[in-house]
Amino acid sequence: MGPELSFLGYPPGRAFCYDAHAGRNPAQGTRLKTRITELLRIDFPLVQGGLWGLAYAELCGPISEAGAFGQLTAAMHATPADLAREIGRTRALTAKPFGVNLPVHARDFTQYIGVAIAEGCAAFTLTGGDPSRYIEAIAGRVPAIVLVSSVRQARNAERAGADAVIAVGQEGGGNVGRADSGTLALVPQVVDALKIPVLAAGGIADGRGILAGLALGAEGIEMGSRFIAVRECRAADAYKEALCRAGDGDTAIVILPPDSRVRVLAEDAALLAGRSLQDLTAPAQGNPGFQPRGAGQSAGLIGDVPTAAELIARLRHEAQMGLARLHALMTDPPALH
Ligand SMILES: Cc1cc2nc3c(=O)[nH]c(=O)nc-3n(C[C@H](O)[C@H](O)[C@H](O)COP(=O)(O)O)c2cc1C
Repeated sequence: MGPELSFLGYPPGRAFCYDAHAGRNPAQGTRLKTRITELLRIDFPLVQGGLWGLAYAELCGPISEAGAFGQLTAAMHATPADLAREIGRTRALTAKPFGVNLPVHARDFTQYIGVAIAEGCAAFTLTGGDPSRYIEAIAGRVPAIVLVSSVRQARNAERAGADAVIAVGQEGGGNVGRADSGTLALVPQVVDALKIPVLAAGGIADGRGILAGLALGAEGIEMGSRFIAVRECRAADAYKEALCRAGDGDTAIVILPPDSRVRVLAEDAALLAGRSLQDLTAPAQGNPGFQPRGAGQSAGLIGDVPTAAELIARLRHEAQMGLARLHALMTDPPALH
């Protein structure tokens, strides 16, 4: 840990408690047990979001290998056989569980499900539309987790048989829901409304955010933007640098007709004028011309480009230090188990 900590236990600015130069990480073994860690068979309740255009084996594998849950995005693969090959590439990088994201608004992915499970996909996340027929097709063979942006969507997902939901607030990067709820208000309302476990997402990029999500009742966290600024991610260096440079106010939501909303780097917002969601999904189908850079408000918390393993070790350590700090604030603390 660095020597100069603020009174809150964190160094000022964007520095972190975890000291990569110390050559050892006392938090390497920090494990947290929730229904999400049990469901996904991981030892730290952190999921990498299904990053459109970026979530390939070389990102997903190291994230799972470090004890979080990496994901591939099915949309990047034109056929189920292509996805099977990508799963094989991931398997070469880790023997630990990882998942596949299905953005159901993009096209029909039902044929991908059996192939992905046969190749070793440990869970699906479903986003962008009615998940019912996908949950039916998965048929309980692996967990089905649905991204939601409102209590109504969360209830529908639970009724349809989802094993968990990811409650994503408007702070999040990429496609955000139409309901105008921020993560802080949305997550506890979803937790209160459901019996199944909830993950929190949107605006989270460090150990403080992870702890905050858990404090709201979530049993896991999904992060998107933070995992773009890691070395293994194939995003262009200029994209990673823009995330590192970004401060508060440097992302913006753009409304795409008829009624989709995406959060991108504010400097890219003008690129989206007159575009539709269809244009955004086109690059995966062979049109590489148009690539606005999605980013959450969490970009303001990103200041470097570590490896995935370094980042996850740091996040574990920050969460542990944050918990110790809160414990120390209590005048009559309960025993921690
Ligand atoms: C560039 C980008 C692309 C994304 N693509 C997808 C996607 O294809 N499927 C999905 O479920 N979520 C997608 N997301 C959302 C993330 O999975 C995650 O929920 C979100 O990034 C959380 O907010 P954060 O960026 O503040 O961490 C994307 C996010 C970004 C920034």
